[in-house]
Amino acid sequence: MAIQVVILAAGQGKRMHSNLPKVLHPLAGKPLLEHVIDASMVLTKSKPIVIYGHQGDLLTKKLVHREVQWVLQEEQLGTGHAVQQALPKITDDNQVLILCGDVPLISSETLTKLIETTPPNAVGMLTAHLTKPFGYGRIKRDANHHVVGVVEEKDATPTERDIHEINTGIYFLPAKYLKEWLPALQNNNAQKEYYLTDIIKHAFKHKIAIHAVHPADNSEIMGVNDRIQLAYLERCYQKNAAESLMRKGVTLRDPARVDIRGEVEVGRDVTIDVNVIFEGRVVIGDECTIGPNVILRDTIIGNQVVVRANTTIHGAKIANKCIIGPFARIRPDSVLEESARIGNFVEIKKTRVGKESKANHLSYIGDCDIGTGVNIGAGTITCNYDGVTKHQTIIGDNAFIGSCSQLVAPVMIGAGATIGAGSTITEDAPANKLTLSRARQHTVAEWKRPEKKEA
Ligand code: UD1
Ligand code: CA
Repeated sequence: MAIQVVILAAGQGKRMHSNLPKVLHPLAGKPLLEHVIDASMVLTKSKPIVIYGHQGDLLTKKLVHREVQWVLQEEQLGTGHAVQQALPKITDDNQVLILCGDVPLISSETLTKLIETTPPNAVGMLTAHLTKPFGYGRIKRDANHHVVGVVEEKDATPTERDIHEINTGIYFLPAKYLKEWLPALQNNNAQKEYYLTDIIKHAFKHKIAIHAVHPADNSEIMGVNDRIQLAYLERCYQKNAAESLMRKGVTLRDPARVDIRGEVEVGRDVTIDVNVIFEGRVVIGDECTIGPNVILRDTIIGNQVVVRANTTIHGAKIANKCIIGPFARIRPDSVLEESARIGNFVEIKKTRVGKESKANHLSYIGDCDIGTGVNIGAGTITCNYDGVTKHQTIIGDNAFIGSCSQLVAPVMIGAGATIGAGSTITEDAPANKLTLSRARQHTVAEWKRPEKKEA
């Protein structure tokens, strides 16, 4: 027996008032649907079947890299009709786990519990007790507390609406039941839809055991129908992510003011100040300090690194003991070697900064290879672009670039060379020599400042 996963994602999400299909809206930087796909991947090797419909092209394009089987539901006639579309791809003696693309925080732990505790040949379902059950289908139980059915809010009597146990829309059951019951569904209800929830009625009628399991936390089963619910679940996600960092030895100045939109790996004794955003995959070593308002994206940082306020680092490798910022911008393909320093208003792109080299103030350094112990003076610009092609600047070890110099690439500055402040360097500068290109200063003796004439 194998497990096959069906994820319902064909709905439009009217209440999002969006041009983007609901399940593509990001939570923690990742589309809702991908959260559900990821949770299901842990449980089975078979590719999940995703039922799509509304703006389907956008969905299949955006998630083209994911291993899923796409099944089109041309018209959205209800959740039962949606699962019916998947039946040709489901093997009769398999078990089926049904998930919703708009319930993003479902955990693989809770799903494992549902799978492992549902007896063979029973129907397993995930239900939850909510203080505010409104909008959800309600679970009906008999005097013996056995589940007998689900009634949708729109079809419910006032007494049924008072029930606080709700249907999460997540089920685990043998494929053979779906193959038998789905074709028999009727749409004689308030919404004129083919309800998947009616399978519970069928199970009860056929005296099949119905086994209800609850999630570890109710945020796991909450759906996203509007942007308020999306924002709420984003907060739930971020709270968990922040707590998991703190459990591993990270100090967060305020756990409510850090955003993790990807995967973060952090060593011991790292302090993270407020409003730091992590994107993609970020690795930070031990004993680092990350200042406020820093954005780190797809970056690897070594040990004892200090990143000061308002710095953005994207696609870089930062070695031990570097000091960066405040207000620095490190762009992709940059490498900072040990103890390098990049200061305020310095932009670095596709550049290696050698050990103990510094660019501390107001510079643009692009397509550059900087040796060790180099000092880049304030206001230095690499002129790396001729309007068509990018060119390289190479700066040897221990070179000293005077303030406000322009290095017109391709150009090479020899080891130990000194460039006089304010130079425009267009030819290679030899090692260990002073090179400068500005005109000699002179004073015009006979010059007078113009004066206003009295009227
Ligand atoms: C459904 C359940 C309800 C449960 C709730 C939990 C039914 C009839 N009701 O209600 O008992 O409490 O989920 O969140 O099943 N979808 C399709 N094709 C369709 C219709 C829907 O793929 O034709 C997808 C949607 O994209 C969504 C999911 O199915 O991901 C649930 O659909 P939705 O319309 O949101 O159902 P609810 O009214 O929330
Ligand atoms: Ca819903």
